[in-house]
Amino acid sequence: MTSRPPGAVVLTGASSGIGAALALTYAEPGRTLGLIARNKERLAATANACESRGAKVFTASLDVTEAAPLASWVRDFDAVTPVEVLIANAGVSGGRRPDGAFEDLETAIRQLRINLEGAVNSVDAILQPMRRRRHGHIVLMSSLSGLRALPDAPAYSASKSGLLGYGAALRGSLRPEGIRVTVVCPGFVTSPMSQRYLGARPGELSAERAARIIRRGVERGKARVVFPWHLGVAMRASHLLPTILSDAIMRRFGFRIAPE
Ligand SMILES: NC(=O)c1ccc[n+]([C@@H]2O[C@H](COP(=O)([O-])OP(=O)(O)OC[C@H]3O[C@@H](n4cnc5c(N)ncnc54)[C@H](OP(=O)(O)O)[C@@H]3O)[C@@H](O)[C@H]2O)c1
Repeated sequence: MTSRPPGAVVLTGASSGIGAALALTYAEPGRTLGLIARNKERLAATANACESRGAKVFTASLDVTEAAPLASWVRDFDAVTPVEVLIANAGVSGGRRPDGAFEDLETAIRQLRINLEGAVNSVDAILQPMRRRRHGHIVLMSSLSGLRALPDAPAYSASKSGLLGYGAALRGSLRPEGIRVTVVCPGFVTSPMSQRYLGARPGELSAERAARIIRRGVERGKARVVFPWHLGVAMRASHLLPTILSDAIMRRFGFRIAPE
């Protein structure tokens, strides 16, 4: 009996941090990867590392906010190698600046566009072919801040809770069509993004460990992958408190975001 080759994975934000670690986690003989990010050099470094693990890799230097070129590349890729898993991971962070200033409008809109609109663009690019095949798995990279908004990162929190809502709705409508949806809510993960977070980072995990947790959760078909579990419980439990108390607790974990 011949075993089925591992399905193709398309991953946005593959040039760095969690995305690069995820690409490596999925890199194995017989697997085809479609890796997307803007920075060509960093993307090539991820691709080389994945190829040395035996994967076949295609890269595209694309901005997830540009829906048309993104869709065109993903659909061309899918026509040759049907996509089994799409991971919308690309993201940027922002928030209260090191001098204490509130995030400006440009920073806020940039996060909403890349984190939320970029993920919707990525999903839209693959939805039709997956629905036609009645098969596939969509993975959205939210955050613990999607479960409970962080006072020092309003737009980031909004983008990530938006992804939770989007993912829950997609899950409900696509399950009968054979498409699974997983929303990932990581806590602190070591990456260039988290290095800009100036504040305590309890429970921080390496990107490699986070990638293993995410892949395992996706393979189990989980609706949500939340880690570390104790911070996930704390974020959800905060909704049971009076808002004045929960806001005061959240303020105790204040932070600043250094510019990129
Ligand atoms: N690190 C954490 O503690 C943490 C916690 C919770 C959730 N997350 C989420 O996990 C995801 C990955 O974060 P990370 O920590 O790995 O950050 P990172 O190291 O800064 O990586 C972000 C990735 O997104 C890509 N990207 C950013 N803007 C893009 C755009 N417009 N178009 C295409 N790609 C774009 C970047 O590539 P280019 O710059 O090359 O385009 C890079 O590959 C993000 O969605 C983040 O919000 C992170």
